[in-house]
Amino acid sequence: MSKDDTRMWGGRFNQPTDEFVQAFTASVGFDRRLAHADIEGSRAHAMMLKHIGVLNSDELTAIKYGLQQIRDEIDAGKFAWSVALEDVHMNIEARLTELAGDAGKKLHTGRSRNDQVATDIRLYLREQIGICMHAIRSFQNGLLDLAEREAQTIMPGFTHLQVAQPVSFGHHMMAWFEMLDRDHGRLTDCAARMNQMPLGSAALAGTSFELDREYSAELLGFDMPSRNSIDAVSDRDFAIEFCAAASICMMHLSRMAEELVLWSSAQFDFIQLPDRYCTGSSIMPQKKNPDVPELVRGKVGRVTGHLMSLLMLMKAQPLAYNKDNQEDKEPLFDTLDTLIDSLRAFADMVPALSVNRDSTYQAAQQGYATATDLADYLARKDVAFRDAHEAVGKAVAFAIEQDKDLSACTLEELQKFDPRIEQDVFEVLTLEGSLNARNITGGTAPEQVLFEVNAGRERLKD
Ligand code: ARG
Repeated sequence: MSKDDTRMWGGRFNQPTDEFVQAFTASVGFDRRLAHADIEGSRAHAMMLKHIGVLNSDELTAIKYGLQQIRDEIDAGKFAWSVALEDVHMNIEARLTELAGDAGKKLHTGRSRNDQVATDIRLYLREQIGICMHAIRSFQNGLLDLAEREAQTIMPGFTHLQVAQPVSFGHHMMAWFEMLDRDHGRLTDCAARMNQMPLGSAALAGTSFELDREYSAELLGFDMPSRNSIDAVSDRDFAIEFCAAASICMMHLSRMAEELVLWSSAQFDFIQLPDRYCTGSSIMPQKKNPDVPELVRGKVGRVTGHLMSLLMLMKAQPLAYNKDNQEDKEPLFDTLDTLIDSLRAFADMVPALSVNRDSTYQAAQQGYATATDLADYLARKDVAFRDAHEAVGKAVAFAIEQDKDLSACTLEELQKFDPRIEQDVFEVLTLEGSLNARNITGGTAPEQVLFEVNAGRERLKD
């Protein structure tokens, strides 16, 4: 090949790469996102090479200055990215060689793009997982405030989307809090499992240079160097694991989104979303659309899709590295962006919603939400629960026929269904009574909700 061949691997080729192939195989259009991680990894690799005597101090200094300048150029948008240089790694290395001369060319000693990219993605993902976890925590904090504010607010709890039993609005918010807490835990686990350093695995077999892998692992904040070079360059299970955790979190957000959409409709009228989070209609002047929750509900589809893409990408790939792996980045990056944006939007929007307390109260009054309380009342008077259930079922049928609530029935009317019913039943039939009765760990009594809010604040301190 001619002397002006820019390809770093051009040595054994006697034809230029087809232009289409060059564009088709290049990843620099998207993997430039890894630039900071790539520079960090190169810096640590260079320091380790100096440490073992492969580079001298001048060479290391030239590399460090060069890498810093490249970082500045990238941050300033002045870096000349070249598709001909294929990916982020070779773009940076080529520029480093311009800036640092032969020292730049030595940087790749004992390294391959295979262990380089596997390291870069881990460094990048580790940082981004930190951002996701922070966003989850800030959403959880907002939910604690909302739950505290609305601990006494009564709303209908649903099963099958039918009114089931009255619950505290705050209790419902604390359900979301718990869902998010497990999401946070999954990310913690995922970040811990992936924190091993592939550098030193080189192409797939390790390297003949006596690299001090513990040294570079420590510099890069990895717990340890990877134990198997073939595995380290070939698996992307950590990215899949992250996307699985992200999909579960997005699934949770979609459930919240669905409830926000329903609750802000005129039919429910439970809440009002902040105006700044809604949009209007170009034709219907009365409309206030919950676009943000709707979009989040929709976006769970693409995140789960990315999880499927990655699973299919890795399925049946022979060990070790294959070019297929380059396809790991776009799904991963989009998953990160989508999850972080969705979490940030909810963290800001949800705590700012206002609850129409009269409306949730009225809704809880409809649908015989305290029927279970009446059955429990009878069971406490030694009626077998199944018999109590039967008697209350009949009472509800009667009340439906009369078009009134159980609490609006007279004592005589209720006694027809079981003579053991007494005057004190009316306390049991109130929404407040029903709520306060569930004063058990994890129950909906406002006292329990406030207890869990405080416990939640403590939990978030760790
Ligand atoms: N751009 C490549 C990727 O993302 C880097 C590794 C390339 N390795 C190779 N042997 N072609 O996977």
